[in-house]
Amino acid sequence: MTQPAPRVFARIAGTGSFLPETVLSNDDLAKRVDTSDEWIRERTGIHQRHVASAGQTTSDLAFEAGRRALEAAGVAASEVQLLIVGTTTPDLIFPSTACIVQHKLGANGCMAFDVNAACSGFLYALSIADQFIRAGTVKTALVIGAETLTRMLDWSDRGTCVLFGDGAGAVVLKADEETGIISTHMHADGAYQKLLWNPVGVSAGFKLDEENAGVRVLMTGNEVFKVAVKTLDAVVEEALSANELDRSAIDWLIPHQANLRIIQATAKRLNMPMDRVVVTVDRHGNTSSGSVPLALDEAVRSGKVQRGQLLLLEVFGGGFTWGSALLRY
Ligand code: ACO
Repeated sequence: MTQPAPRVFARIAGTGSFLPETVLSNDDLAKRVDTSDEWIRERTGIHQRHVASAGQTTSDLAFEAGRRALEAAGVAASEVQLLIVGTTTPDLIFPSTACIVQHKLGANGCMAFDVNAACSGFLYALSIADQFIRAGTVKTALVIGAETLTRMLDWSDRGTCVLFGDGAGAVVLKADEETGIISTHMHADGAYQKLLWNPVGVSAGFKLDEENAGVRVLMTGNEVFKVAVKTLDAVVEEALSANELDRSAIDWLIPHQANLRIIQATAKRLNMPMDRVVVTVDRHGNTSSGSVPLALDEAVRSGKVQRGQLLLLEVFGGGFTWGSALLRY
C-alpha cells in the first residue's frame, strides 16, 4: 500500500532587503509642493522615503534584496527553481524584471516571472510560490517585492508625491515538513480601478491628453483610505477564522506600509498593541510591493521576529487588490 505523501509547507529560510541611498525628507518635499512636515507626519506617519538614483532600476534593488535573502538562507542562486518578482514598476515592458534579476543573480534556467498586483504584488507572488511548493513541483523559491514607484509620480501633485518611496524586500522559501506558510487569502475587485491607477500603457496607449497627463499615479486618497480600512478588517478576520485562531495567537502583524493611521486601525481591530506591529512607513514611505518584505526583513534582522512565532502579513493596493498570509516563521 502506498503511503500518503507528507504534508509540505513553504518555510521562510531567509530574508533580505535593499533601500536606495538617497533619502528625501518631508522638508525636501515642502520645497517642491505646498505641503509641510507637520501635515505629512500627522496624516500619514511618514518622515522620509528613499529614492532610486538616476539609472538605478527596480531590478537593481530586487537583485540586492534577493542576494541578501539567499545569503541569509545559505542557499546558492543555482538552487533556486522558481523566481517571482512582485512589481508594478518593471525595468522594461519585457523581458520581465524576474528574468533580469535571475540573470544578475546567476540563477539562469529556473522559472521566472513578474506579478503585477500593485501594492499587493509581493503577497500575490508569495501565495503563488506557496502553491508550487505545496504541490511538490518546487523545493526552493525566491520571492521578491521591488519597486521604483517614484519614477511614476507627478512631483507637482501633493496628494501623491509625499506618500511613496523606492525599495525591495525578498524571501527564500524552502519546502519543509514542519512549519511555514499556513494559509494565504488573496482578492481583487476591478470595479475600483479609477480610485488608484496609472492610466497609460502599451495597449491603451501612452497618451498625453489632458485627463491622462503622462505616466503618473492618480489617486482619490480619502476614498482609498476608507475602503482600505474596511477591507483590511475583513482580511484579518478571514485569515483568523480560516484557521480557527483567536486574534491573541498572532505574535506579529506585518502590514502594508501605506499610512500609519490605516495600520493603527487594523491593529485596533486585532486588539494588538502597536509594539507587536512592525512599522517602517515612517522611514520608507509606501514602497508598494516592497513594503511587506522590507518590514519583515527589518523585523527579522533586528531580532524582533523569532523562529516559531506566528505572523500575519496583510496588503492592500491598486486594482483594488488585497490579501493576507498567515505563517509560522
Ligand atoms: N500636504 C498638505 N495638504 C494636503 C496634502 C499634502 N501633501 N495632500 C492633500 N492635502 C490637502 C487636500 O488638498 C485637502 O485639502 P482641502 O480640504 O482644502 O480640499 C486636505 O488636505 C484633506 O485631503 P484628504 O485627501 O481628505 O486627506 P486625508 O486625511 O484623507 O489624507 C492621504 C490623504 C494621506 C492620501 C490618505 O487619504 C491616504 O493615506 N489614503 C490611502 C492611501 C493608500 O492606502 N493607498 C493604497 C496603496 S498604494 C498602491 O497600491 C500603489
